[in-house]
Amino acid sequence: MVLLSVKPLFSILVFTLSLLLILVLLSSPTPFFLYRTSSDSHAGEVDIWSVRRLVEWRPCKWWLQGHLTALPLETNGYIRVDCYGGLNQMRRDFCDGVGIARLLNATLVLPKFEVASYWNETSGFADVYDVNYFIQQMNGFVKVVKQLPPEIASKEPVPVDCSKRKGQFDYVESVLPSLLEHKYISITPAMSQRRDRYPLYAKASLCQACYKALRLTKSLEMKASKLLEAIPKPFLSLHLRFEPDMVAYSQCEYPGLSPASMKAIEAAPQGDRKPWTGELARIWRKRGKCPLTPNETALVLQALSIPASTNIYLAAGDGLMEIEGLTGIYTNVFTKSSLLSGEDFISMHGNTKAALDYYVSINSDSYIATYFGNMDKMVAAMRAFKGLHKTLFLSRRAFAELTFQGLKDKELMQALWKAHRDDFALGRGYALPECFCDFKL
Ligand SMILES: *[C@@H]1O[C@H](CO)[C@@H](O)[C@H](O)[C@H]1NC(C)=O
Ligand SMILES: *[C@@H]1O[C@H](CO)[C@@H](O)[C@H](O)[C@H]1NC(C)=O
Ligand SMILES: *[C@@H]1O[C@H](CO)[C@@H](O)[C@H](O)[C@H]1NC(C)=O
Repeated sequence: MVLLSVKPLFSILVFTLSLLLILVLLSSPTPFFLYRTSSDSHAGEVDIWSVRRLVEWRPCKWWLQGHLTALPLETNGYIRVDCYGGLNQMRRDFCDGVGIARLLNATLVLPKFEVASYWNETSGFADVYDVNYFIQQMNGFVKVVKQLPPEIASKEPVPVDCSKRKGQFDYVESVLPSLLEHKYISITPAMSQRRDRYPLYAKASLCQACYKALRLTKSLEMKASKLLEAIPKPFLSLHLRFEPDMVAYSQCEYPGLSPASMKAIEAAPQGDRKPWTGELARIWRKRGKCPLTPNETALVLQALSIPASTNIYLAAGDGLMEIEGLTGIYTNVFTKSSLLSGEDFISMHGNTKAALDYYVSINSDSYIATYFGNMDKMVAAMRAFKGLHKTLFLSRRAFAELTFQGLKDKELMQALWKAHRDDFALGRGYALPECFCDFKL
Protein backbone atom coordinates (compact mmCIF):
# COMPACT_ATOMS: atom_id res chain seq x y z
CA MET A 1 0.00 0.00 0.00
CA VAL A 2 2.82 2.34 0.98
CA LEU A 3 4.65 1.55 -2.23
CA LEU A 4 1.52 2.20 -4.22
CA SER A 5 1.11 5.69 -2.82
CA VAL A 6 4.78 6.65 -3.04
CA LYS A 7 5.13 5.83 -6.73
CA PRO A 8 2.43 8.23 -7.99
CA LEU A 9 3.84 10.94 -5.70
CA PHE A 10 7.23 10.45 -7.26
CA SER A 11 5.79 10.53 -10.78
CA ILE A 12 3.91 13.72 -9.94
CA LEU A 13 7.13 15.28 -8.69
CA VAL A 14 9.04 14.31 -11.83
CA PHE A 15 6.16 15.48 -13.98
CA THR A 16 5.99 18.84 -12.18
CA LEU A 17 9.73 19.36 -12.51
CA SER A 18 9.62 18.55 -16.22
CA LEU A 19 6.72 20.93 -16.63
CA LEU A 20 8.65 23.66 -14.84
CA LEU A 21 11.63 23.08 -17.08
CA ILE A 22 9.47 23.28 -20.17
CA LEU A 23 7.82 26.45 -18.86
CA VAL A 24 11.20 28.05 -18.30
CA LEU A 25 12.26 27.07 -21.79
CA LEU A 26 9.10 28.42 -23.32
CA SER A 27 8.68 31.56 -21.27
CA SER A 28 11.46 33.41 -23.03
CA PRO A 29 9.70 34.44 -26.22
CA THR A 30 12.56 33.42 -28.46
CA PRO A 31 14.64 30.74 -26.78
CA PHE A 32 18.19 31.72 -27.57
CA PHE A 33 19.30 28.24 -28.51
CA LEU A 34 16.90 28.15 -31.41
CA TYR A 35 18.84 30.84 -33.16
CA ARG A 36 22.00 28.87 -33.41
CA THR A 37 20.57 27.09 -36.43
CA SER A 38 21.11 28.53 -39.84
CA SER A 39 17.47 27.99 -40.68
CA ASP A 40 16.20 31.23 -39.24
CA SER A 41 14.13 32.32 -42.17
CA HIS A 42 11.78 30.83 -44.66
CA ALA A 43 14.11 32.10 -47.35
CA GLY A 44 13.37 29.02 -49.41
CA GLU A 45 16.57 27.02 -49.28
CA VAL A 46 15.86 25.15 -46.07
CA ASP A 47 12.56 23.55 -45.20
CA ILE A 48 11.06 23.11 -41.75
CA TRP A 49 12.49 19.60 -41.42
CA SER A 50 16.02 20.98 -41.49
CA VAL A 51 15.47 22.83 -38.22
CA ARG A 52 17.52 21.28 -35.46
CA ARG A 53 15.28 19.35 -33.08
CA LEU A 54 15.92 19.79 -29.37
CA VAL A 55 13.40 17.31 -28.02
CA GLU A 56 12.39 13.90 -29.25
CA TRP A 57 9.61 11.63 -28.03
CA ARG A 58 10.41 7.98 -27.42
CA PRO A 59 8.49 5.12 -25.81
CA CYS A 60 8.89 5.34 -22.02
CA LYS A 61 11.15 2.79 -20.33
CA TRP A 62 8.48 1.69 -17.86
CA TRP A 63 6.29 0.66 -20.78
CA LEU A 64 8.94 -1.37 -22.54
CA GLN A 65 9.63 -3.12 -19.22
CA GLY A 66 5.98 -3.26 -18.18
CA HIS A 67 5.54 -6.98 -18.67
CA LEU A 68 7.87 -7.65 -15.77
CA THR A 69 4.99 -7.29 -13.31
CA ALA A 70 3.32 -10.69 -13.10
CA LEU A 71 -0.36 -10.96 -13.95
CA PRO A 72 -2.66 -11.87 -11.04
CA LEU A 73 -3.51 -15.56 -10.79
CA GLU A 74 -7.23 -14.94 -10.28
CA THR A 75 -9.29 -12.82 -12.62
CA ASN A 76 -11.81 -10.40 -11.16
CA GLY A 77 -14.08 -10.95 -14.15
CA TYR A 78 -14.45 -10.33 -17.87
CA ILE A 79 -14.62 -6.96 -19.61
CA ARG A 80 -15.75 -6.09 -23.10
CA VAL A 81 -14.89 -2.60 -24.32
CA ASP A 82 -17.62 -1.03 -26.43
CA CYS A 83 -16.28 1.58 -28.84
CA TYR A 84 -18.06 4.24 -30.83
CA GLY A 85 -17.24 6.91 -33.40
CA GLY A 86 -14.58 6.97 -36.09
CA LEU A 87 -11.87 4.33 -36.36
CA ASN A 88 -9.22 6.21 -34.41
CA GLN A 89 -11.65 7.30 -31.71
CA MET A 90 -12.66 3.67 -31.23
CA ARG A 91 -9.03 2.68 -31.10
CA ARG A 92 -8.30 5.32 -28.47
CA ASP A 93 -11.22 4.12 -26.34
CA PHE A 94 -10.22 0.52 -26.77
CA CYS A 95 -6.67 1.29 -25.61
CA ASP A 96 -8.11 3.00 -22.55
CA GLY A 97 -10.25 -0.06 -21.96
CA VAL A 98 -7.21 -2.32 -22.02
CA GLY A 99 -5.58 -0.18 -19.33
CA ILE A 100 -8.75 -0.37 -17.27
CA ALA A 101 -8.99 -4.15 -17.61
CA ARG A 102 -5.44 -4.51 -16.32
CA LEU A 103 -6.06 -2.00 -13.55
CA LEU A 104 -9.04 -4.06 -12.39
CA ASN A 105 -7.21 -7.39 -12.77
CA ALA A 106 -9.83 -8.43 -15.29
CA THR A 107 -9.70 -10.53 -18.44
CA LEU A 108 -10.41 -8.84 -21.74
CA VAL A 109 -12.73 -10.23 -24.37
CA LEU A 110 -12.57 -8.81 -27.89
CA PRO A 111 -14.10 -5.34 -28.11
CA LYS A 112 -17.25 -4.33 -29.88
CA PHE A 113 -16.63 -1.77 -32.58
CA GLU A 114 -19.86 0.03 -33.11
CA VAL A 115 -20.27 1.41 -36.57
CA ALA A 116 -21.33 5.01 -36.96
CA SER A 117 -24.49 5.19 -39.03
CA TYR A 118 -23.37 8.16 -41.09
CA TRP A 119 -20.23 6.28 -42.07
CA ASN A 120 -22.34 3.50 -43.55
CA GLU A 121 -20.16 0.94 -41.90
CA THR A 122 -19.82 -2.75 -41.48
CA SER A 123 -16.27 -3.14 -40.18
CA GLY A 124 -15.94 -4.50 -36.68
CA PHE A 125 -12.73 -4.98 -34.71
CA ALA A 126 -11.70 -8.24 -36.38
CA ASP A 127 -12.30 -6.76 -39.83
CA VAL A 128 -9.73 -4.07 -39.17
CA TYR A 129 -7.20 -5.52 -36.73
CA ASP A 130 -5.30 -8.79 -36.60
CA VAL A 131 -6.81 -10.55 -33.60
CA ASN A 132 -4.23 -13.30 -33.13
CA TYR A 133 -1.38 -10.82 -33.32
CA PHE A 134 -3.07 -8.66 -30.73
CA ILE A 135 -3.50 -11.54 -28.30
CA GLN A 136 0.09 -12.63 -28.78
CA GLN A 137 1.49 -9.11 -28.29
CA MET A 138 -0.52 -8.61 -25.12
CA ASN A 139 0.90 -11.74 -23.57
CA GLY A 140 2.09 -10.83 -20.07
CA PHE A 141 0.45 -7.39 -20.15
CA VAL A 142 -3.18 -8.39 -19.78
CA LYS A 143 -5.20 -11.56 -20.26
CA VAL A 144 -7.22 -11.64 -23.48
CA VAL A 145 -9.63 -14.38 -24.54
CA LYS A 146 -11.49 -14.97 -27.78
CA GLN A 147 -14.12 -17.05 -26.04
CA LEU A 148 -15.81 -16.72 -22.67
CA PRO A 149 -15.81 -19.62 -20.23
CA PRO A 150 -18.96 -21.79 -20.56
CA GLU A 151 -20.62 -20.56 -17.34
CA ILE A 152 -20.98 -17.02 -18.72
CA ALA A 153 -20.73 -17.62 -22.46
CA SER A 154 -24.47 -17.37 -22.96
CA LYS A 155 -24.82 -14.11 -21.02
CA GLU A 156 -24.79 -10.56 -22.32
CA PRO A 157 -22.40 -8.32 -20.40
CA VAL A 158 -23.89 -5.89 -17.90
CA PRO A 159 -23.25 -2.45 -19.37
CA VAL A 160 -21.42 0.06 -17.20
CA ASP A 161 -21.40 3.32 -19.15
CA CYS A 162 -18.63 5.61 -17.96
CA SER A 163 -18.51 7.82 -21.01
CA LYS A 164 -20.94 10.43 -19.70
CA ARG A 165 -19.37 10.74 -16.26
CA LYS A 166 -18.24 14.23 -15.45
CA GLY A 167 -15.27 15.15 -13.35
CA GLN A 168 -12.45 12.89 -12.34
CA PHE A 169 -13.39 9.28 -12.56
CA ASP A 170 -11.85 6.39 -10.74
CA TYR A 171 -12.43 2.90 -12.08
CA VAL A 172 -11.46 0.98 -8.99
CA GLU A 173 -14.02 2.90 -6.93
CA SER A 174 -16.73 3.02 -9.58
CA VAL A 175 -16.47 -0.07 -11.73
CA LEU A 176 -14.74 -2.80 -9.72
CA PRO A 177 -17.86 -3.48 -7.57
CA SER A 178 -19.98 -4.12 -10.69
CA LEU A 179 -17.30 -6.33 -12.16
CA LEU A 180 -17.06 -8.43 -8.99
CA GLU A 181 -20.84 -8.69 -8.76
CA HIS A 182 -21.64 -9.56 -12.39
CA LYS A 183 -18.36 -11.16 -13.53
CA TYR A 184 -18.97 -9.95 -17.09
CA ILE A 185 -19.43 -6.28 -17.90
CA SER A 186 -19.08 -4.02 -20.90
CA ILE A 187 -17.63 -0.55 -20.56
CA THR A 188 -17.33 2.58 -22.65
CA PRO A 189 -14.31 4.40 -21.27
CA ALA A 190 -14.64 7.90 -19.85
CA MET A 191 -12.44 10.72 -21.03
CA SER A 192 -11.78 11.95 -17.54
CA GLN A 193 -10.35 8.94 -15.83
CA ARG A 194 -7.69 9.21 -13.14
CA ARG A 195 -4.81 7.68 -15.04
CA ASP A 196 -2.42 9.29 -12.61
CA ARG A 197 -3.63 6.72 -10.10
CA TYR A 198 -2.86 3.82 -12.41
CA PRO A 199 0.02 1.62 -11.45
CA LEU A 200 2.62 1.60 -14.22
CA TYR A 201 1.76 -1.96 -15.25
CA ALA A 202 -1.77 -0.80 -16.16
CA LYS A 203 -0.45 2.18 -18.12
CA ALA A 204 2.03 -0.11 -19.82
CA SER A 205 -0.81 -2.38 -20.95
CA LEU A 206 -2.58 0.60 -22.47
CA CYS A 207 0.58 1.65 -24.31
CA GLN A 208 1.38 -1.85 -25.48
CA ALA A 209 -2.16 -2.31 -26.80
CA CYS A 210 -2.30 0.97 -28.59
CA TYR A 211 1.09 1.27 -30.18
CA LYS A 212 2.47 -2.21 -30.46
CA ALA A 213 -0.28 -4.80 -30.53
CA LEU A 214 -2.67 -3.35 -33.09
CA ARG A 215 -1.80 -4.29 -36.61
CA LEU A 216 -4.13 -4.22 -39.60
CA THR A 217 -5.52 -7.51 -40.89
CA LYS A 218 -3.51 -9.16 -43.64
CA SER A 219 -6.00 -8.23 -46.35
CA LEU A 220 -6.22 -4.59 -45.25
CA GLU A 221 -2.46 -4.34 -44.94
CA MET A 222 -2.06 -5.69 -48.46
CA LYS A 223 -4.38 -3.04 -49.82
CA ALA A 224 -2.65 -0.36 -47.81
CA SER A 225 0.83 -1.34 -48.91
CA LYS A 226 -0.33 -1.42 -52.51
CA LEU A 227 -1.51 2.15 -52.04
CA LEU A 228 1.74 3.11 -50.33
CA GLU A 229 3.74 1.65 -53.21
CA ALA A 230 1.77 3.67 -55.73
CA ILE A 231 2.66 7.02 -54.15
CA PRO A 232 5.77 8.67 -55.64
CA LYS A 233 8.58 8.98 -53.09
CA PRO A 234 9.59 10.78 -51.05
CA PHE A 235 6.25 12.14 -49.97
CA LEU A 236 4.42 14.15 -47.38
CA SER A 237 1.19 12.79 -45.97
CA LEU A 238 -1.12 15.72 -45.37
CA HIS A 239 -4.15 15.24 -43.15
CA LEU A 240 -6.26 18.11 -44.37
CA ARG A 241 -9.43 18.34 -42.32
CA PHE A 242 -11.80 20.40 -44.39
CA GLU A 243 -14.68 18.04 -44.95
CA PRO A 244 -18.27 19.26 -44.59
CA ASP A 245 -18.84 17.53 -41.23
CA MET A 246 -15.69 19.09 -39.78
CA VAL A 247 -16.62 22.57 -40.93
CA ALA A 248 -20.20 22.25 -39.69
CA TYR A 249 -18.95 20.98 -36.34
CA SER A 250 -16.44 23.84 -35.99
CA GLN A 251 -19.12 26.57 -36.16
CA CYS A 252 -16.69 28.81 -37.98
CA GLU A 253 -17.49 31.41 -40.60
CA TYR A 254 -15.92 30.98 -44.03
CA PRO A 255 -17.11 33.84 -46.22
CA GLY A 256 -15.31 32.79 -49.42
CA LEU A 257 -16.82 29.33 -49.87
CA SER A 258 -18.40 28.16 -53.12
CA PRO A 259 -22.16 27.49 -53.21
CA ALA A 260 -21.44 23.76 -53.59
CA SER A 261 -19.41 23.77 -50.36
CA MET A 262 -22.11 25.72 -48.52
CA LYS A 263 -24.67 23.15 -49.55
CA ALA A 264 -22.46 20.24 -48.48
CA ILE A 265 -21.94 21.84 -45.06
CA GLU A 266 -25.68 22.29 -44.51
CA ALA A 267 -26.29 18.68 -45.48
CA ALA A 268 -23.60 17.34 -43.11
CA PRO A 269 -24.36 15.81 -39.72
CA GLN A 270 -24.32 18.80 -37.34
CA GLY A 271 -25.14 20.94 -40.36
CA ASP A 272 -27.81 22.60 -38.26
CA ARG A 273 -25.15 24.13 -36.01
CA LYS A 274 -25.03 27.80 -36.87
CA PRO A 275 -21.61 29.43 -37.26
CA TRP A 276 -20.67 32.16 -34.80
CA THR A 277 -20.84 35.63 -36.27
CA GLY A 278 -19.35 39.07 -35.59
CA GLU A 279 -17.15 39.48 -32.54
CA LEU A 280 -17.84 35.94 -31.32
CA ALA A 281 -16.59 34.55 -34.61
CA ARG A 282 -13.36 36.54 -34.19
CA ILE A 283 -12.82 35.27 -30.65
CA TRP A 284 -13.58 31.72 -31.70
CA ARG A 285 -11.14 31.89 -34.59
CA LYS A 286 -8.43 33.49 -32.44
CA ARG A 287 -8.73 30.62 -30.01
CA GLY A 288 -7.63 28.33 -32.82
CA LYS A 289 -11.01 26.66 -33.26
CA CYS A 290 -11.28 27.00 -37.01
CA PRO A 291 -9.97 24.34 -39.40
CA LEU A 292 -7.55 25.69 -41.98
CA THR A 293 -8.93 25.87 -45.50
CA PRO A 294 -6.92 24.25 -48.32
CA ASN A 295 -5.98 27.81 -49.30
CA GLU A 296 -4.67 28.63 -45.85
CA THR A 297 -2.95 25.26 -45.63
CA ALA A 298 -1.08 25.91 -48.87
CA LEU A 299 0.01 29.28 -47.52
CA VAL A 300 1.36 27.79 -44.30
CA LEU A 301 3.16 25.01 -46.20
CA GLN A 302 4.82 27.69 -48.30
CA ALA A 303 5.80 29.56 -45.15
CA LEU A 304 7.47 26.33 -43.98
CA SER A 305 9.43 26.29 -47.24
CA ILE A 306 7.89 23.05 -48.37
CA PRO A 307 8.55 23.13 -52.12
CA ALA A 308 5.60 23.33 -54.47
CA SER A 309 6.92 20.24 -56.24
CA THR A 310 6.58 18.07 -53.11
CA ASN A 311 4.66 14.81 -53.55
CA ILE A 312 1.66 15.07 -51.27
CA TYR A 313 -0.64 12.23 -50.28
CA LEU A 314 -3.97 13.65 -49.15
CA ALA A 315 -5.13 11.75 -46.11
CA ALA A 316 -8.67 13.01 -46.01
CA GLY A 317 -12.24 11.91 -45.91
CA ASP A 318 -14.69 11.94 -48.79
CA GLY A 319 -15.96 15.28 -49.93
CA LEU A 320 -12.94 17.40 -49.03
CA MET A 321 -13.95 20.92 -50.07
CA GLU A 322 -12.18 23.76 -51.91
CA ILE A 323 -9.22 21.54 -52.68
CA GLU A 324 -8.26 23.76 -55.63
CA GLY A 325 -6.84 26.15 -53.02
CA LEU A 326 -4.12 23.57 -52.39
CA THR A 327 -3.74 21.93 -55.77
CA GLY A 328 -3.41 25.32 -57.47
CA ILE A 329 -0.04 25.66 -55.73
CA TYR A 330 0.99 22.10 -54.87
CA THR A 331 0.49 20.23 -58.10
CA ASN A 332 1.70 16.74 -57.14
CA VAL A 333 -1.22 15.78 -54.94
CA PHE A 334 -2.39 12.16 -54.75
CA THR A 335 -5.53 10.70 -53.27
CA LYS A 336 -6.84 7.22 -52.56
CA SER A 337 -9.36 7.51 -55.34
CA SER A 338 -6.71 8.53 -57.87
CA LEU A 339 -4.39 5.65 -56.95
CA LEU A 340 -6.68 2.71 -56.26
CA SER A 341 -8.61 0.89 -58.89
CA GLY A 342 -12.30 1.77 -59.10
CA GLU A 343 -13.69 -1.45 -57.71
CA ASP A 344 -11.15 -1.56 -54.88
CA PHE A 345 -12.23 1.91 -53.89
CA ILE A 346 -15.97 1.46 -54.22
CA SER A 347 -16.04 -1.64 -52.02
CA MET A 348 -14.45 0.31 -49.17
CA HIS A 349 -16.21 1.86 -46.22
CA GLY A 350 -15.25 4.62 -43.83
CA ASN A 351 -13.23 2.47 -41.44
CA THR A 352 -11.33 0.80 -44.24
CA LYS A 353 -10.47 4.12 -45.85
CA ALA A 354 -9.44 5.54 -42.50
CA ALA A 355 -7.21 2.48 -41.99
CA LEU A 356 -5.49 3.13 -45.33
CA ASP A 357 -4.86 6.78 -44.49
CA TYR A 358 -3.47 5.71 -41.15
CA TYR A 359 -1.15 3.14 -42.70
CA VAL A 360 0.18 5.50 -45.35
CA SER A 361 0.67 8.24 -42.75
CA ILE A 362 2.73 6.11 -40.37
CA ASN A 363 4.97 5.16 -43.29
CA SER A 364 5.39 8.52 -45.02
CA ASP A 365 8.57 10.55 -44.98
CA SER A 366 6.75 13.39 -43.27
CA TYR A 367 3.32 14.01 -41.80
CA ILE A 368 1.50 17.30 -41.42
CA ALA A 369 -1.96 17.71 -39.95
CA THR A 370 -4.15 20.77 -40.08
CA TYR A 371 -6.03 19.67 -37.00
CA PHE A 372 -5.28 17.73 -33.81
CA GLY A 373 -7.83 14.95 -33.88
CA ASN A 374 -7.79 11.30 -32.87
CA MET A 375 -6.14 10.16 -36.07
CA ASP A 376 -3.42 12.81 -35.78
CA LYS A 377 -2.61 11.85 -32.22
CA MET A 378 -2.49 8.17 -33.11
CA VAL A 379 -0.35 8.75 -36.20
CA ALA A 380 2.05 11.10 -34.42
CA ALA A 381 2.57 8.61 -31.61
CA MET A 382 3.05 5.68 -33.99
CA ARG A 383 5.56 7.69 -35.98
CA ALA A 384 7.45 8.49 -32.78
CA PHE A 385 7.35 4.79 -31.91
CA LYS A 386 8.92 4.00 -35.27
CA GLY A 387 11.52 6.74 -34.92
CA LEU A 388 9.94 8.99 -37.56
CA HIS A 389 10.10 12.56 -36.36
CA LYS A 390 9.12 14.69 -39.32
CA THR A 391 5.70 15.30 -37.84
CA LEU A 392 4.00 18.65 -37.43
CA PHE A 393 0.61 20.08 -36.52
CA LEU A 394 -0.19 23.35 -38.18
CA SER A 395 -1.19 26.03 -35.72
CA ARG A 396 -4.68 27.34 -36.41
CA ARG A 397 -4.27 29.71 -33.51
CA ALA A 398 -1.02 31.23 -34.79
CA PHE A 399 -2.54 31.57 -38.22
CA ALA A 400 -5.60 33.39 -36.85
CA GLU A 401 -3.64 35.65 -34.51
CA LEU A 402 -1.13 36.67 -37.15
CA THR A 403 -3.73 37.41 -39.80
CA PHE A 404 -5.83 39.39 -37.30
CA GLN A 405 -2.71 41.43 -36.55
CA GLY A 406 -2.86 42.37 -40.21
CA LEU A 407 0.39 40.68 -41.18
CA LYS A 408 0.68 40.02 -44.89
CA ASP A 409 2.98 38.54 -47.48
CA LYS A 410 6.59 38.28 -46.38
CA GLU A 411 5.91 39.37 -42.79
CA LEU A 412 3.15 36.81 -42.42
CA MET A 413 5.28 34.06 -43.91
CA GLN A 414 8.16 34.92 -41.60
CA ALA A 415 5.94 34.91 -38.51
CA LEU A 416 4.33 31.61 -39.49
CA TRP A 417 7.76 30.10 -39.99
CA LYS A 418 8.87 31.17 -36.51
CA ALA A 419 5.76 29.82 -34.81
CA HIS A 420 6.11 26.41 -36.43
CA ARG A 421 9.88 26.26 -36.19
CA ASP A 422 9.64 26.50 -32.40
CA ASP A 423 6.89 23.85 -32.29
CA PHE A 424 8.98 21.50 -34.38
CA ALA A 425 12.24 22.07 -32.51
CA LEU A 426 10.59 21.49 -29.15
CA GLY A 427 8.50 18.55 -30.33
CA ARG A 428 5.39 20.29 -29.07
CA GLY A 429 2.33 18.14 -29.19
CA TYR A 430 3.69 15.52 -31.50
CA ALA A 431 3.37 12.45 -29.32
CA LEU A 432 0.97 11.49 -26.58
CA PRO A 433 2.74 12.18 -23.31
CA GLU A 434 1.02 9.15 -21.81
CA CYS A 435 3.23 6.45 -23.31
CA PHE A 436 6.09 8.57 -24.61
CA CYS A 437 8.78 10.39 -22.73
CA ASP A 438 10.56 13.44 -24.02
CA PHE A 439 14.23 13.02 -24.55
CA LYS A 440 16.51 16.06 -24.79
CA LEU A 441 18.74 15.79 -27.81
C1 LIG B 1 -4.62 -6.48 -8.75
O1 LIG B 1 -3.63 -7.39 -8.37
C2 LIG B 1 -2.50 -6.81 -7.73
C3 LIG B 1 -1.52 -7.91 -7.44
O2 LIG B 1 -1.21 -8.60 -8.60
C4 LIG B 1 -2.91 -6.08 -6.47
O3 LIG B 1 -1.81 -5.44 -5.92
C5 LIG B 1 -4.00 -5.06 -6.83
O4 LIG B 1 -4.47 -4.45 -5.64
C6 LIG B 1 -5.14 -5.73 -7.54
N1 LIG B 1 -6.10 -4.72 -7.92
C7 LIG B 1 -7.40 -4.93 -7.94
C8 LIG B 1 -8.27 -3.78 -8.35
O5 LIG B 1 -7.89 -6.02 -7.65
C1 LIG C 1 -24.65 2.61 -47.76
O1 LIG C 1 -24.27 1.39 -48.31
C2 LIG C 1 -25.23 0.78 -49.13
C3 LIG C 1 -24.72 -0.59 -49.58
O2 LIG C 1 -23.33 -0.69 -49.57
C4 LIG C 1 -25.53 1.69 -50.33
O3 LIG C 1 -26.52 1.12 -51.17
C5 LIG C 1 -26.00 3.06 -49.82
O4 LIG C 1 -26.18 3.94 -50.90
C6 LIG C 1 -24.99 3.63 -48.84
N1 LIG C 1 -25.52 4.86 -48.23
C7 LIG C 1 -24.80 5.99 -48.14
C8 LIG C 1 -25.47 7.13 -47.45
O5 LIG C 1 -23.66 6.10 -48.55
C1 LIG D 1 -8.56 30.76 -52.27
O1 LIG D 1 -7.63 31.60 -52.89
C2 LIG D 1 -8.00 32.04 -54.17
C3 LIG D 1 -6.88 32.89 -54.69
O2 LIG D 1 -5.65 32.39 -54.31
C4 LIG D 1 -9.29 32.82 -54.10
O3 LIG D 1 -9.68 33.18 -55.40
C5 LIG D 1 -10.35 31.99 -53.46
O4 LIG D 1 -11.52 32.74 -53.27
C6 LIG D 1 -9.88 31.47 -52.12
N1 LIG D 1 -10.88 30.61 -51.58
C7 LIG D 1 -11.27 30.68 -50.30
C8 LIG D 1 -12.27 29.66 -49.89
O5 LIG D 1 -10.84 31.49 -49.53
